Amino acid sequence: MERTLVLLKPDCVQRRLMGKVLSRFEEKGLNVIGLKMLQVTPQLAKTHYAEHVQKPFYPGLEKFITASPIVAMVVEGLEVIRVVRDMLGATSGLKAAAGTIRGDYSSSRQMNLVHASDGPEAAAKEIALYFKPEEILPYEPTLIGWFKADDEK
Ligand code: CMP
Repeated sequence: MERTLVLLKPDCVQRRLMGKVLSRFEEKGLNVIGLKMLQVTPQLAKTHYAEHVQKPFYPGLEKFITASPIVAMVVEGLEVIRVVRDMLGATSGLKAAAGTIRGDYSSSRQMNLVHASDGPEAAAKEIALYFKPEEILPYEPTLIGWFKADDEK
């Protein structure tokens, strides 16, 4: 089982798309095992987006990500890091394929609704940045036998 960090960004909250986006992950059969609303501070933004801090778009990104509350979640599942990135689609909503979350709801490079970790190292770092260990509550869904065959768990 893998875990990934997903953020529903300020545009997702403001546009009342939280429920729709969360439903996509639930309907896929992924486990949401951590969930909270929070305000990103400039300091948290700089830590999270450390690799982008020097990029020309960073000031706009920080202004956007700190402008309104976000929802952070830890999502668990088999190959979940890749599965969730595929569900999000390309970074720009204009380039993301139809059927992906960004492809269906975003027309922007910056306001692309959702963030998800891009690899195992980033997932571990980002989960630790947003969640204390006791805020993560793994559980076995009682319907697990109807999501996967026994040898796929
Ligand atoms: P995310 O997947 O959270 O990772 C970095 C974020 O920076 C990205 O989504 C976008 O919100 C934003 N971003 C990436 N590239 C650009 C860009 N060229 N211009 C503006 N914002 C960008």
